[in-house]
Amino acid sequence: MEREHWGTRIGLILALAGNAVGLGNFLRFPVQAAGNGGGAFMIPYFIALVLVGIPLMWTELAMGRFGGNRGHGTMPGIFQLLWRHPAAKYFGVIGLLLPITIFIYYIVVESWTLGFSFFSLIGRYNGATTQDAMGGFLHGFQGIARNEYFNGIYWGYAFFIMTAAINYVVLRRGIRGGIEKLANIGMPLLIIMAVVLVVRVLTLGTPDPSKPDQSVINGLGFIWNPDLGALRNPKVWLAAAGQIFFTLSVGFGAIQAYASYLKKDDDVALSGIATASTNEFCEVICGGTIAIPIACAFFGVAATQAIAQGGAFNLAFQSMPIVFQHLPLGNIFGFMWFFLLFIAGVTSSVALTLPAVTFFMDELGWTRERAVNVITMFTFAASNLVIFFLAQGFMDELDFWAGTFGVVLLALIEIVVFFWVFGKDNAWEEITRGAEIRVPAVYRFIMKYVTPLFLIAILATWAKSDMIKVLKMEAVLPADRPFVWGARVLMLVTLAGFAILVAVASRRGGLSKERNAL
Ligand code: ALA
Repeated sequence: MEREHWGTRIGLILALAGNAVGLGNFLRFPVQAAGNGGGAFMIPYFIALVLVGIPLMWTELAMGRFGGNRGHGTMPGIFQLLWRHPAAKYFGVIGLLLPITIFIYYIVVESWTLGFSFFSLIGRYNGATTQDAMGGFLHGFQGIARNEYFNGIYWGYAFFIMTAAINYVVLRRGIRGGIEKLANIGMPLLIIMAVVLVVRVLTLGTPDPSKPDQSVINGLGFIWNPDLGALRNPKVWLAAAGQIFFTLSVGFGAIQAYASYLKKDDDVALSGIATASTNEFCEVICGGTIAIPIACAFFGVAATQAIAQGGAFNLAFQSMPIVFQHLPLGNIFGFMWFFLLFIAGVTSSVALTLPAVTFFMDELGWTRERAVNVITMFTFAASNLVIFFLAQGFMDELDFWAGTFGVVLLALIEIVVFFWVFGKDNAWEEITRGAEIRVPAVYRFIMKYVTPLFLIAILATWAKSDMIKVLKMEAVLPADRPFVWGARVLMLVTLAGFAILVAVASRRGGLSKERNAL
């Protein structure tokens, strides 16, 4: 079966940007920036972008194109090609586990954004004007509480099914007819809605003249005034590097699958920069201007600080709806905010599923239909665990190991395999072939030495600061421990399942030796 390719250059860039731009840009970024030194956060953030984010983006695009042109669009096959060792493909299993694990909880949050966009439009949360009331609304919707707003999880579950169905349809339609088409429509719409919301926030001024401190300017000051003292704290550096990974979707295994549908001489260098730039526009300009400044204008800086400490969900789903209720046409702005999040989410979540789909098609010879059906059934069942054990920390556990730790680990393995095992010159040739920009030569040095050292430093600092605490479940109540173990077992079963499939594929599927002769 001939491999599908992207239809147009702009379609590819929008799809890659859709892959990167996600909930991380609008929810995670403002909370991270506000909580880690404001403007000072941007110093380690941009250092991590230049030394880790962009090198990994190029590496993953080049690896994906290299593998795809040889019939292997996912990490097991790509590692086997680059590092001719029988164990190589098993390292690649991590590149299947991570995106699917992240997908399992990401799609649940995505379904909340779809639900809340509908509730905004019909005014369903109108009247819930305090943090407690909106908290009740959110928890009722999530099925954590029964109250005057919801008497069960029915609404929440209906939106989850709808979200899963939308993801399913897009994936079933394939690269050009599904993912590219979604990005061609979704990304311009997302950018328009983001810009409208930015303009709305910037023109708010001081909504209540009797409270002059509560203004957008003070809100922008809160998120952007640099607290240079924060730079002495290693946690701030870790947070900045972690945000770069999450926002660019590097280390996930997802960029490679997209790039595997490129042609042999298609550019990757400029496409990587275009993707990163679009992502940074959506993150720093739009993500940094909407949620935090608007919350400061309505609640004041001190209250916003407390909200941000309560996490991204608190800000997005509890505080923003209160703000919208104070604005003229608030229902429309509320809809735009949540629908923007939904589009950002869906263009990323399809990218999280694509590696598994591509793996089944490439290595086991399945049709797209069969691959998408099987993966949807598996992820649908697994996401139910996240939905029903939300309050017990199931989602946080998956997010720590896959979305925070795992991505750095995979990134380290892939950069070592590409630049040290496959070789610096070969890797450089892959990155620069067909390039429509001149990649600065200093990146040869950065990618071989600086990026891996940076990644080792991140992993070492984590091992010291967080990993043991998380392993020992220090933040988890004893009653919730069985559920956290449940999340770990799910990840291990998925990992083992993929490893078995890789073993099967290497005996008689796409990974078997004969088919790999170059
Ligand atoms: N890169 C995606 C996001 O920012 C996963 O949400």
